[in-house]
Amino acid sequence: MQNGIIENYRTLREELQAEGVVFRSDTDTEVIPRLLSRELARFHAGGSAPSGGLLLQALQAVLPRLHGAYAFAVVWAELPGALVVARKAAPLLIGLGEGEFLCASDTPALAGFTRTILPLEDGEVALLTPLGIELYDAAGDRVQRTPSLLSGTEHVADKRSFRHFMLKEIHEQPETAALWVARHLPEAELGAAPHAGLLVALPLDESVYEGVERIQILACGTSRHVAQVGAYLLEQLAGIPTSVFYASEFRYAPPPLSPNTLTIEVTQSGETADTLAALAMEQERRRAVADPAYAPRLLGITNRPESSLGRLVDQIFDIGAGIEVGVAATKTFLGQLLAFYGLALAFAERRAGGATGHGPEQLRQLAAGLRALPQQLRDLVDDHDRRCEQLGHLFADTQDVMFLGRGINYPIALEGALKLKEISYIHAEGYPAGEMKHGPIALLDARVPVVSIAVPGTVFDKVLSNAQEAKARDAQLIGVAPECADAELFDTLLPVPVVDELLSPLLTVIPMQLLSYHIAAHRGLDVDQPRNLAKSVTVE
Ligand code: F6R
Repeated sequence: MQNGIIENYRTLREELQAEGVVFRSDTDTEVIPRLLSRELARFHAGGSAPSGGLLLQALQAVLPRLHGAYAFAVVWAELPGALVVARKAAPLLIGLGEGEFLCASDTPALAGFTRTILPLEDGEVALLTPLGIELYDAAGDRVQRTPSLLSGTEHVADKRSFRHFMLKEIHEQPETAALWVARHLPEAELGAAPHAGLLVALPLDESVYEGVERIQILACGTSRHVAQVGAYLLEQLAGIPTSVFYASEFRYAPPPLSPNTLTIEVTQSGETADTLAALAMEQERRRAVADPAYAPRLLGITNRPESSLGRLVDQIFDIGAGIEVGVAATKTFLGQLLAFYGLALAFAERRAGGATGHGPEQLRQLAAGLRALPQQLRDLVDDHDRRCEQLGHLFADTQDVMFLGRGINYPIALEGALKLKEISYIHAEGYPAGEMKHGPIALLDARVPVVSIAVPGTVFDKVLSNAQEAKARDAQLIGVAPECADAELFDTLLPVPVVDELLSPLLTVIPMQLLSYHIAAHRGLDVDQPRNLAKSVTVE
């Protein structure tokens, strides 16, 4: 079993073939057992009997030859009952079960078997036998480490009465929000240090906020959409210039260094290879600068504080959403989004509104709006589950869907399109509604449904008139908007309550998730395990 990619496998393969080794597959993985067999044969020729120590020694001799990222487990026919595991730049966890050890690349796979885990650090190897675990670092020295306990695994192996984990996880979002409010937004203003007089209590050291002039956020996929909403909030609420990057692009073309910059990594799994590599690169180039203003300041937002991310950053914001099994992120999206609401409020409070004009009263109103969120979500999820189920069949032959949003809801349009692509395999695009006239409007006709997010606020009228333009091209219009006279424009309405525009993404994302879910479920697709996708993307 191997996760990752052995980049120099062709060279290794040729080397072994030149020695007469015959390969059975074209995979990069096969070079690993072939190299190990060669090492073991050498030891055997030297008269050594099969033992765990021997297998470990062979593994340690092979690892320096492997370039790239890997996490793998090896069994040896000569030594049943022993297993060796190794990792480099790809996650590997050992689970300590009852009378058994388990190996996995991510925690959801272990949930249901055990809550006790031992995550391997980069470069480590371990020998697992009925006698226990022997752990060694990259230098071959024995390491002692206490296993940790997983949180939030209680219901994971159980879909309850739901047809899919994704649907269950969508329905868990009111609970995610309620927990967040209880933890970070207590009813009364905070009385005790270090949060005295403040609205939000975050599990972060005060140094996170001090002297920050810029913020840069690195993330991939859905987490990047969260980051885009986060950037909007940090700029509009707290007045901090904030840029969002695809981690996969940032790692090869970072912007020039700026001083006093907080770098935030957003990754629900905490194991996304591109995000971790971008983070490592940023850390390294900042450490190389003597001026302390350029020193790395790293904050991770994740659902898995025990992940590789958790071990790399200075401070971690655990979103505590519980294990998410469905590959398509839903409740972790909401959890990460809430983390940014907390962060933006915390910065804004410390800057007393700054250049944005959000004074204490407006911040208090936003906090009150967030406290109302769990109940609003409860109503919305139940209502839209029914509504979207009835819409599923309308998309039986659909090949393209357009999602439109503006301002703080533009990333939600992107998220709607990504969710639909991932699980229903329908081509979808998310677009800033005002950009349609610059090209994509040419795609519209009666066969292309348009989902338009239109909530009262700075761009309400603009979005409605963009939707009107789509309607004039015979597109079927689905509106995610409040029930009001303007909404009569839509062929179908997925109603959302009127809230402060800044809070609206927390609600408008629900119909996006449920629409995608019901379209995919109606098509009979494997919603929880869509083709070609993984919950943790541990390769570049
Ligand atoms: C979408 C999805 C992916 C992930 C992306 C980053 O539903 O799951 O787009 O968002 O692979 O994953 P994390 O957040 O684990 O870094």
